Amino acid sequence: METSLPPVGAVDADHLAPGAPLVLARNVQKHFGAVKVLKGIDLAVQKGEVLCIIGPSGSGKSTFLRCINQLERIDGGALFVSGERVGFRQVGNQLHELDDKAIARQRRSIGMVFQRFNLFPHLTATQNIIEGPVQVLKQPAAQARERAHALLERVGLADKRDAYPSQLSGGQQQRVAIARSLAMQPELLLFDEPTSALDPELVAEVLLVMRDLALTGMTMIVVTHELGFARDVGHRVAFMDQGQIVELGPSQAILTEPKEARTRAFIKAVRH
Ligand SMILES: Nc1ncnc2c1ncn2[C@@H]1O[C@H](COP(=O)(O)OP(=O)(O)OP(=O)(O)O)[C@@H](O)[C@H]1O
Ligand SMILES: [Mg+2]
Repeated sequence: METSLPPVGAVDADHLAPGAPLVLARNVQKHFGAVKVLKGIDLAVQKGEVLCIIGPSGSGKSTFLRCINQLERIDGGALFVSGERVGFRQVGNQLHELDDKAIARQRRSIGMVFQRFNLFPHLTATQNIIEGPVQVLKQPAAQARERAHALLERVGLADKRDAYPSQLSGGQQQRVAIARSLAMQPELLLFDEPTSALDPELVAEVLLVMRDLALTGMTMIVVTHELGFARDVGHRVAFMDQGQIVELGPSQAILTEPKEARTRAFIKAVRH
């Protein structure tokens, strides 16, 4: 691990000053064996911002999200979420890995929605949603259930409270998965191709829920091939290729007048 990275606006090695970006990546590196998958990612995402990440298969998009959420440990650089260094604390010039409890606490402020919805098949929509709040946040069951019902209403599924995942369409399951993430009251939501496993006619309902979320000011990092969503809902778009952010800027500019040839070629390929 690189330890000599003075982060922007840091109050100490492990904490950023108030007002710092909600997510800050500095020279983030990750390799699997000899394969370098993230080759120095620098990125700042402000509170309330929606950042869309696009890029070809294998470019490291999922790995980057998984590093933010500590499903993977970074091998170099530094990551900060909500002003706090992710996964490590610095003592002198050395980084020490956080213990499981501290990592679990950090992960609690981050929700992640995957391509596959990962709902528990033996639990109803409501039961899926209250699992985390009751088990982890220790919310009283009645209160968690009431909140789950409100969240189901928010994602347009008020009538599916007691349905099991097998009784729901893919789009409905994904909306339950989003409600389940929201139930944990995250400060940051990560989406990894949330609509790419869906039949085309079910994509719009999920994107609509995500758009509503964005309008409430939720901070979101969304890996997606839905360029329309990226243009309309994303504030900025990052194009990743071969473990690097090749180009990053306002959605409209990146999607309509990319400067880099690689970005242009990718966007053209996705559109066709
Ligand atoms: N656990 C792992 N072990 C070894 N290699 C991995 C692992 N996870 C990812 N990789 C490799 O890292 C690279 C980046 O993978 P990643 O899943 O981040 O790409 P991606 O941009 O999300 O691609 P896609 O668009 O196909 O989802 C790939 O070459 C992949 O094979
Ligand atoms: Mg991926």
